[in-house]
Amino acid sequence: MSKRTGVLFVCLGNICRSPLGEGIFRHRVEAAGLGDRFEIDSSGTSGWHAGEAPDPGSVRVARARGIDISGQRSRALTREDLERFDVIVAMDASNRRNILSLAGAGGAEALRGRLWLMRNFEREEDGSGDDEGVPDPWGGGARGFEEVFEIVDRSCANLLTWIRRERGMGQGR
Ligand code: 4NP
Repeated sequence: MSKRTGVLFVCLGNICRSPLGEGIFRHRVEAAGLGDRFEIDSSGTSGWHAGEAPDPGSVRVARARGIDISGQRSRALTREDLERFDVIVAMDASNRRNILSLAGAGGAEALRGRLWLMRNFEREEDGSGDDEGVPDPWGGGARGFEEVFEIVDRSCANLLTWIRRERGMGQGR
């Protein structure tokens, strides 16, 4: 079988937004019967919360939609991630800047066509949407997590459509 497509979601702390990206995208991939075609993960540009479970707000909003993200653990993004993953999805422009600076000289070129912003896919199936960020819900109320869930869910639906088309994954459900 061909190599799995690696998709990595990245935010600052890897406890609020990118765990939702990982959980929602995996849920959609499995619902499509494509679980064995992907490797899905998330990380944070900071290691501030390394080893921690996702924020209770993210766990709760996902659970309410039947998605369990409680087993995830935060980890820091590494340079190896930037070489290994086929699709790297940053939650906002600051995350993207941090990713590019970790990549170092020549990094922007190496990441061309692989580094995206989550909301590039919110309304566009080809990632051509604008550069708005997914708002950071950390320390905010439940409403913030609901909003993040909705944005990430819409964006993941289009991201999966795009990857399937790009990689010719016609089969599945
Ligand atoms: P996340 O949210 O990047 O969506 O995981 C944050 C989590 C923690 C912090 C900031 C944002 N923090 O400053 O510790």
